[in-house]
Amino acid sequence: MLVSAKEMLTKAKAGKYAVGQFNINNLEWTKSILLTAQELNSPVILGVSEGAGKYMTGYKTVVGMVNGMLEELNITVPVALHLDHGSYEGCLKCVEAGFSSIMFDGSHYPIDENIEKTKELVKIANEKGMSIEAEVGSIGGEEDGVIGKGECADPNECKSIADLGVTMLAAGIGNIHGKYPDNWEGLSFETLDAIQKLTGDMPLVLHGGTGIPEDMIKKAISLGVAKINVNTECQLAFAEATRKYIEDKKDLEGKGFDPRKLLAPGAEAIKATVKEKMELFGSVGKA
Ligand code: 13P
Repeated sequence: MLVSAKEMLTKAKAGKYAVGQFNINNLEWTKSILLTAQELNSPVILGVSEGAGKYMTGYKTVVGMVNGMLEELNITVPVALHLDHGSYEGCLKCVEAGFSSIMFDGSHYPIDENIEKTKELVKIANEKGMSIEAEVGSIGGEEDGVIGKGECADPNECKSIADLGVTMLAAGIGNIHGKYPDNWEGLSFETLDAIQKLTGDMPLVLHGGTGIPEDMIKKAISLGVAKINVNTECQLAFAEATRKYIEDKKDLEGKGFDPRKLLAPGAEAIKATVKEKMELFGSVGKA
């Protein structure tokens, strides 16, 4: 059964480790992540962006697939199904469809509007026993070939949003989605420290987990990060393994064209990436 992310993140914050959110794109992704979490006895959060939800034909399909797998694969570790960077309407759809967690990304609204909308969604999430993530300070990333610099959130604004009763809070600290540019200045631990001092026990979320050096991940966890989002790194691992399979002409040997064979190396590569991250984040054995 899907669970809210509240309990796993409260434990992670207290135990000074982080739970990984791994974004899913299809059946192979979901299966690889769930099997790895079970094997390592780790809690896990499956992230679904609005685009990925649409790709998988809608949130109800995603809920059906994930619930089916939890049962058929005998998954007993805590699993949350979470909307990633949701709009207000997207959040309502996921509540309806049976997700166990939502993120409302109101970071592009003026702070008062972000507060207003987050407040309404907190009430709805609470009524349903779901966890809810909010965001302050937009997290940069590549858009039309231009890599935006990660913004640093205002700690006082973080406090205002945290006080609304959200479960976890994403705050920009110089992190960005996708690959980091060579001249990236790194995470702003000063900002993170100030945010954690004002928000206390609130589990903080680090987006853009791909490509952040290990020492920075560990320091971020020591300063209150309890959830780390990883997406691009699984995509890169999947693409590289699949490319190798085709370049080695394995699809031309026997029934190598069978999708169950063709997608297998990519699925294994996702498992290896998830395992590496769970070990780094410290969530192994914490289910
Ligand atoms: P990356 O794609 O950089 O790993 O970021 C993932 C993320 O933050 C999803 O919200």
